[in-house]
Amino acid sequence: MRKKIVAGNWKMNKTYEEALSLVSEIDHMVRDEVNGEVTVIVTPPFPYLQPVGKLVQGNSKMHLAAQNVSEHESGAFTGEVSAAMLQSVGTEYVLVGHSERRMYHHEDAQTLYKKMKMALAQGLKPIFCCGEPLEERDADRHFEFVGQQLHDSLSYLSNEEFDQVVVAYEPIWAIGTGRTASSQQAQEMHAYIREQLARLFDAEAAFNTSILYGGSCNPGNAQELFAQPDVDGGLIGGASLKSRDFVAIIKSF
Ligand code: 13P
Repeated sequence: MRKKIVAGNWKMNKTYEEALSLVSEIDHMVRDEVNGEVTVIVTPPFPYLQPVGKLVQGNSKMHLAAQNVSEHESGAFTGEVSAAMLQSVGTEYVLVGHSERRMYHHEDAQTLYKKMKMALAQGLKPIFCCGEPLEERDADRHFEFVGQQLHDSLSYLSNEEFDQVVVAYEPIWAIGTGRTASSQQAQEMHAYIREQLARLFDAEAAFNTSILYGGSCNPGNAQELFAQPDVDGGLIGGASLKSRDFVAIIKSF
C-alpha cells in the first residue's frame, strides 16, 4: 500500500541556527503529537543536510531529502552536488524537476531523466515534481501538459527503478501564490497522473505510488486535500518553515 507523506521543501530559507531550531521543534512535535503512519520528510538547503539528518535519525517517522542533485556522476562541475555525495551524508530522498529548477535553471526533460537515473543508482528515492503553468490550465491543456512531463522524464525507467519514485503534482499557479488548487482540481489531476503511470509502468506500480499535492497547502486546506482518494500527502513550501503549521499539516490525514 502506498505511503502517506508530508514533505517540507525549505527552498533557500533559514540560517544554520534557524534550520536546527526548526527541525528540532518539528522532531519534538512529531514524537509527541503524531500517532498514525506518516512519512515526514524535511528538505533543507545543502549545507544543513548532515546536521539536520543527524537530528532526525532517531525519529523513525522523519526522513531527509535534498532539493537537487547533479545529472553528472563526478568531476569538474563547480557548484554541483552528486548523488553519491548526498547518499554519503545520509540523504534518503531528493527533489527532481521542481518548477523553480525547470524555470530558473532551464532543466529540461532529458536533464531530469539523467538526474533520476543518478539518484536511483545511488539508492536515493526521487520525488519527481510536475505541474502546469497558468496558461496551460487556462487553455484547458493541463492534463496533456502534465502527461507529457511524466512521459518525457519517467518513461525510460525500469519498473524496479520506478518503484522508488514519489510523484508530486505542483501546479505552478498555486506555488507561493496563496491560490491553492481546489480539492476537486487536485483529485482529478492526481487520478489522471495515476492513470498515466499505469500506462507507463503497470497498474500495481501506479496504485502503490504516493502522489503528493503541492502549492499553497496550509493547515486550513490540507485536510480536504488529503481526504481525496488519490492525494497521498503534500509537498509543502512556505508552511513548512513554521513548525506549528507544518505539524498541523502532518496531522491533517
Ligand atoms: P508553497 O507551499 O509555498 O506554495 O510551495 C510549494 C512548493 O513549491 C513546494 O515544493
